[in-house]
Amino acid sequence: MSQHQRIDIFFVMGHSFACKTNDSGRKNRGFCKKMRMKKFITTPIYYVNDVPHIGHAYCTLAADTLARYWRQKLGKENVFFLTGTDENSQKTVDAAAAAGEEVMPYLDAIAARWKETWEEIGIDFDDFIRTTEERHHETVHEILTTIHGKGDIYKGKYEGLYCTGCEAFLKASEVDENGHCPHHKKAPNRVEEDNYFFRLSKYQDQLLELFEKNPKLLEPEKRRNEVLSFIKSGLEDISISRENAEFGIPLPWDKSHKIYVWFDALINYRSACPSEEFWDNTLHLLGKDITRFHCVIWPAMLMSAGISTPAEEYAHGFFTVDGEKMSKSLGNVISPLDLAMKYGNDGVRLGLLSSFEFGNDGDFSQEQFHDLYNKKLAGGIGNLFNRVTVLIHKFLEGKKPAWDPMNSEKGEWVTMAKERQAVENDMALFHQFMEDKSLRAAIEEMFHEMNKANLLLNEKEPWKLFKVDPEVATQVFARLLLHLETIAKMSETLLPEAAPKMWKMIGDGEKVGEAEILFQRAE
Ligand code: MSP
Repeated sequence: MSQHQRIDIFFVMGHSFACKTNDSGRKNRGFCKKMRMKKFITTPIYYVNDVPHIGHAYCTLAADTLARYWRQKLGKENVFFLTGTDENSQKTVDAAAAAGEEVMPYLDAIAARWKETWEEIGIDFDDFIRTTEERHHETVHEILTTIHGKGDIYKGKYEGLYCTGCEAFLKASEVDENGHCPHHKKAPNRVEEDNYFFRLSKYQDQLLELFEKNPKLLEPEKRRNEVLSFIKSGLEDISISRENAEFGIPLPWDKSHKIYVWFDALINYRSACPSEEFWDNTLHLLGKDITRFHCVIWPAMLMSAGISTPAEEYAHGFFTVDGEKMSKSLGNVISPLDLAMKYGNDGVRLGLLSSFEFGNDGDFSQEQFHDLYNKKLAGGIGNLFNRVTVLIHKFLEGKKPAWDPMNSEKGEWVTMAKERQAVENDMALFHQFMEDKSLRAAIEEMFHEMNKANLLLNEKEPWKLFKVDPEVATQVFARLLLHLETIAKMSETLLPEAAPKMWKMIGDGEKVGEAEILFQRAE
């Protein structure tokens, strides 16, 4: 680089640009080249002892929605969205035995079911990793060998309680009054065996420092505080191998031990990450129940292995269904596929993501969802698109009222110019919500746009106005189309199946398209 030039890297709403600047400090426009940032978005990998329910779909849909947002912003090639299945668990062996099947064929069948479910409900993942795959085993061995070589793994004796439901060791203080696991209501197994341990305690100070340096290591704040106080309460070394486990990845240096399922599962993110550029821009999405694994053990493992820690982690809340915890015994477990049969994929996505804010706990009320679908999708956005296109066909023979900046000083077009500004502000707010992962607020912003359009229709009644003042009525149609375009842009992330139909109705040339039904009313 000549001494007269320097490279400036600057960021504009998530994009980075590299520009050479000459002596006078003016940007050399010809050289200014966009270097797009990358995003690696992940969901937890799901246990295959069960089939997907809407609790799992919740995180997967949120991740897919964010991936769609970032693809729109950074370009498809700069976003990599990963999901998959966690298969090296005792739960899996038990579930296969209960089904009377061999482990591997059972795993293949259930993993395929997870993958197909996501495809069927419109999840556009870039990769689906299974922890029984060779590529994962290789990465696990690489990382464990490095950690071992660093002296962070030692052999010891473990005596204590293990809950297979949680796939976690429980402290005596963590069991309930009956001596049961508080989550699974079952007595944990008492184990006494030779295990290998990871020196988690060694990383306590480095973890605190990491949290201080990177506020995004875990959001929202209440989750971060929980994890911080857990670290401050003192970290103990953790057992990372099981001597008697039937299934799992053997330790590279001692094949008689299988690696503890969480220690292998977390590594899936690394096994499937396509490049270091993506790795540096990792966003892990997870439930609030698994923050200690992701924000304490995982960064410590990475530090030990000399790999950079995740840029961002976000823990969402848990939801109940109609006020009750979803459970097989209560018979209230809902399959995302059943819900999609009735309300369509966009309906499920919107219903789940709008019931409560992403970082909070909440309730998914089926009755409220039904109402929301009929009022805001079928009767709201769907009806609005239908009405506007039908009216433009009727009064303007389908011809799109063109916006001409030369008109911005004249009559009603002044209002149009202001409206364009307002819509830009709404769009900027929408972007901000997506970047903050405030998915419910982003959905509200889309409905806000719909309300504005409905208000305009009801106030101006262009079907009456047209007979009195066709020019003003035409401008009202132009303003309505502006709102429809904004809703369609937002829908590319929030209602991805309806979005292409919306654009077809808005039309791309001189004319609007034919009206069609976006959302069927649900009975
Ligand atoms: N296999 C581990 C994750 C390993 S990631 C390296 C696991 N699997 S899980 O299938 O039990 O849960 C996966 C995710 O589903 C968790 O993030 C959990 O929070 C989420 N949910 C399961 N039920 C849920 C609700 N009812 N509500 C919201 N999320 C829920 O943990």
